[in-house]
This record gives sequence, C-alpha cells and structure tokens, in this order.
Amino acid sequence: MTKSVSLTLDGNSVELPVVVGSELEKGLDISQLRSATGCITLDPGYGNTGSCQSAITYIDGDAGILRYRGIPIEQFEQSPNFIEVCWLLIFGSLPTEAEYADFSERLTRHAMLDESMKHHFQGFPTQAPPMAILSAMINTLSCFHPDMIEMDSDDKFITAAARLISKIRTIAAFAYRSSIGRPYNYPNPDLLYVTNFMHMMFSLPHAPYETDEIVRLAFNLVLILHADHEQNCSTSTVRLVGSSGANLFASCAAGVCALWGPLHGGANVAVLDMLEQIHQGDLSVEEYMRLAKDKNSGIRLMGFGHRVYKNFDPRAQMLQKVAEQLLTHLKINDPLLEIGKRLEDIALNDPYFVERKLYPNVDFYSGIILRALGIPTNMFTVVFAMGRMPGWIAHWREQQQEGSRIGRPRQIYTGPTLNDYVPRDKRGWKSVSDEDILRPASRQNFEF
Ligand code: CMC
Repeated sequence: MTKSVSLTLDGNSVELPVVVGSELEKGLDISQLRSATGCITLDPGYGNTGSCQSAITYIDGDAGILRYRGIPIEQFEQSPNFIEVCWLLIFGSLPTEAEYADFSERLTRHAMLDESMKHHFQGFPTQAPPMAILSAMINTLSCFHPDMIEMDSDDKFITAAARLISKIRTIAAFAYRSSIGRPYNYPNPDLLYVTNFMHMMFSLPHAPYETDEIVRLAFNLVLILHADHEQNCSTSTVRLVGSSGANLFASCAAGVCALWGPLHGGANVAVLDMLEQIHQGDLSVEEYMRLAKDKNSGIRLMGFGHRVYKNFDPRAQMLQKVAEQLLTHLKINDPLLEIGKRLEDIALNDPYFVERKLYPNVDFYSGIILRALGIPTNMFTVVFAMGRMPGWIAHWREQQQEGSRIGRPRQIYTGPTLNDYVPRDKRGWKSVSDEDILRPASRQNFEF
C-alpha cells in the first residue's frame, strides 16, 4: 500500500504520509502542508476532512454498516440495554457485572437535580423550545458541580458521565412538565433508565405511569440507535468546544445546540411536520415529492439523505421494523406510518433520489415510534440528545486522553484587500456623535 504521496506546489515539495485505519480507510496527513508549501486545503462542509483518529464508531456509508467499538448495530436488537451501550462507547468494552452495577448505582444516585435548579424551569416561557432549555440547563450543571470542571481522576470522570446521562433525562422531563403546567415527578430509584424517564414525563399524582417490557425495550433500542455516529455535526461541536479546554458540561451543552438544527437532530421533528402536513391534506404525497425535487421550493424530503450513507442507513431499517412492531403491540393505527412508507416507496424508485443515493435516515421512522410512546413532537430532538449523550462523552474523553491541539480551522480570505477607514464627516454624515444619533430613538423604543 502507498505509504506517502508527494505534492509539489510552486517549487515547494512535501511528503504527505498515508494514514490507514483499522478498516483500511485511508487519509492523507496534511499537518505539514502549510509549513512546507504555504498552502492549506479547502473543504467547506468537511466532506473530505478527517478531524481526528477515533476508535469509537465505524461507519461504512457505501455498505450501510454501523458498528460501536466493532459491534454491528444489529446485534443490539435482541436485548437492547442502553446503559451497557453507554459504557461500551465511553470506556471501550462491554461492562463487567461489577462495572455495570457500579455505573447503574451512580446513575441512580445522580438522577436528582439540585432543588434550586427547579426554579430555573419556571423562569422560561411556557412556549420555550425544549432544546434551548436543555442546552441551558446542561450548561448550568457546571454551576452546581464546580468540582467536576477539573477532571483530574478516572473516578471523577465516571461520576461526571453518570451525572450527565442520568440528569439529561430529569432535565428533559422537567422541561416538559413545566411547559404543560404540571407538577414535577422526581426520579424514582426503583425504576430502570427508560421507565424512570417515562414516569417523570407522564405520571400523575393519582395515576403512576405504567408501561410494559415491549415498550421499554423499544425505547432502549431507539436510544441505542442514536448513541453515536462518529464525527457528525454535534459530536464535532463537542470535540471543538472541548479542544479549547472547556469542561464536559459546557461541551455537551454546545452539542445540544448543534443537534437542534433541522438538517441534524431537528429532522425528526421536521419529518413529523411533513407527514402531518400531508395527512391534513395540505399537500398530496405526489405534490410533496415534486416540491422536494424542486431546488427553488426550499423543501426537502425530510428524513432522507445522509452525508455518509450512500446506501440504506441501517438505523432506519431497524427503526421501521420497531415502528411496525410497536404500533401492532399498542394497537395503534397511525396513518402517518402509511404516508411515510408511501413516500419511501416513491423515493426509492425515483431517479432523482436514486441517482443522488438518497435513502431514509435515522430520523425518518423514529418520530412515528416516539409518537406511539406518547412523546410530544417538540420533545423528539430532546430524546435524540438523550440517546447521543454517551457518544458526546466518549468523544470528549477520547480527545482529552489524546491531548489534541485546540481546533482552529483556517480560511481563504475573499474580502477587500488593504482598505482605509473613512471618517464620518467624509462619508456625508450630518451628525458625527453617537449621542445625537441614538438618544432620540432609544428614549421611545424599548422592547422586551
Ligand atoms: N431531499 C431532496 N433532495 C436532497 C435531500 C433531501 N432530503 N438530501 C439531499 N438532497 C440533494 C441535494 O439537493 C443535492 O442535490 P444536487 O446534487 O442536485 O445539488 C444532493 O442531494 C446532495 O445533497 P447535499 O445537501 O450536498 O448533501 P449533504 O451531505 O450536504 O447533506 C443532509 C446531508 C442530511 C443534510 C441532506 O441529505 C438533508 O438535508 N436531508 C434532509 C434532512 C435530514 O433528514 N437530516 C437528518 C440527517 S441524519 C441524522 C442526523 O445526522 O442528525
């Protein structure tokens, strides 16, 4: 295999080593490129840029393969346990019985929020987007656990990881309860991870939420399928923020913001809105597909396409199966599932989607499942964030352990060349003082 590539630019040469991963993917190490040639690489959207070497998750987007620490995602289908997967991703191997017991105990111990954090929820307007609350409250954890800002021992890191994985659930549920004006349900130490979340979301004082094993396992699988996806937008954000030395809570809060966007985790909400719009009769399936192919419409087929997968996203295939099984089990006849299947059938046979290799992604069917579980649409991306938390933590830790440099991309400047500041009076301004210009307006116009 080629060991390096030579590049010559304006008479300057550099040898670029070829880096080979454990699955034989190849990358050119360009770290000496600029110092040797004065040239940088330009790759908007980073489609060809590797930002790190990582041992956590492997994706082969052409073959539709996704593995966590080498384990194919399909193998988690039989007895899905989200907490085992959290440990696997963060620490590199499946937990021993003792590790699992210890981590579970820490999750239970740290499920509560400091009581004064409760008041923060009441400070948000009832219509506040739950992702904004989630990000703010995860960042707020740094205020309540300042001892966690310096991560100077493994034990401290395990506790911080347990805190985040456990508290994100409590924060999510409290944000929801606050938005609907219902009393908070405190975490119940007798309940398992998912059941406890459902209890905090849905229990009423006189009617504790009850669920069954099939629902619990389906929810576990949903979280597992979202748990990591290597250098996606939110994980890269966590790494970039973490590379500055920012603490784990701050880095993960930034990850939540990145996930919020409709091209990333927010797509699960956009898919439901799309299906609902078709169901309400605003647009037919055919009309929607026509618009999705029209670049001027501003509409895309949400839940379709992926930067890495140019084949079926294995998560989408598994989620479609879970959606069908769950709806049958719960005796729900959801017309949105049928609309989703019709859209998928049409897209998979339409040259526009076939030529561009656009297939359903993880967000296409997850919303149908969450809706069947009673999760309100505006909480879908929050559930995605709960699932993605172990991935963010694993990448933050991997980066810290490797002691990487601060993330700081370069650019090709395209603005004006050397220019001069022109004083206000030479630009035709009548008043030159800020006080004259701003005072009359700001006296009258206050907005809150
Ligand atoms: N509907 C219609 N056309 C599409 C779609 C779509 N969903 N996705 C991509 N295309 C077209 C795009 O217009 C472009 O066409 P052309 O080559 O003629 O200009 C071509 O396919 C390539 O698209 P791209 O935007 O260059 O691809 P990307 O890798 O930059 O974007 C994506 C990937 C996921 C943002 C995009 O496919 C998309 O917007 N999908 C819909 C939103 C969505 O479902 N997002 C969830 C992603 S998976 C979970 C996650 O990461 O959170």
